Amino acid sequence: PAAVIVAIDGPSGTGKSSTSKAVAAQLGLSYLDTGAQYRAITWWMLNNGVDVSDPSEIATAAAKPVIVSGTDPAGPTITVDGEDASGPIRTQEVTSKVSAVSAVPEVRTRITALQRSIAAAAGGGIVVEGRDIGTTVLPDADIKIFLTASPEARAARRSGEVKGSDLTATREALIKRDAADSGRTTSPLAKAADAVEVDTTELTLSQVIECVVTLVGEKR
Ligand code: C5P
Repeated sequence: PAAVIVAIDGPSGTGKSSTSKAVAAQLGLSYLDTGAQYRAITWWMLNNGVDVSDPSEIATAAAKPVIVSGTDPAGPTITVDGEDASGPIRTQEVTSKVSAVSAVPEVRTRITALQRSIAAAAGGGIVVEGRDIGTTVLPDADIKIFLTASPEARAARRSGEVKGSDLTATREALIKRDAADSGRTTSPLAKAADAVEVDTTELTLSQVIECVVTLVGEKR
């Protein structure tokens, strides 16, 4: 089959990553986690004395870190200046700062270019997950999916992932991050006009995977 480009967007806690990885693995496609790239640049800034409450400092530093993303759905990797960042980019500190960093246009321009070059290099096709893939990064994607779920379901999934986390606090942090991601000026979290919306609130992960695999199969 021809190389297919699948864009999967949506807010956090909708099962985007689990779904995207499983769909890529089942269909033999590459996989790119674009949220990990925004987390990686945020992690680098926190480690390198950049004041992430100051957009002009963020803009100046945006070009500095070298970010390399692996695209194997079985074990996606990410390095920053050659250092493995897959663990540290998931800390609460990075999670709470990433929306401010990713809202800065210089950061988005740089990371978007990186994402487009990775997608172009994936000869056999790729699943790319994020917030603005169908709208901005890959507007010509063959299939666009927009995953949603109720705030309660999303918070419950997230606190299930993060050990010892409190449901109310998780729910509040998640709602705050989605509001920041949806409300920013440059390339906000949004459903593309031609995306298929899948509400995952009442679905199991395998049902969501099956649904996306079927949608890709219809287009291929
Ligand atoms: O998907 P994940 O929760 O890891 O994404 C972390 C953050 O990266 C998001 O909250 C958002 O601020 C940013 N992001 C983005 N555009 C994308 C993917 C992620 O702005 N395409």
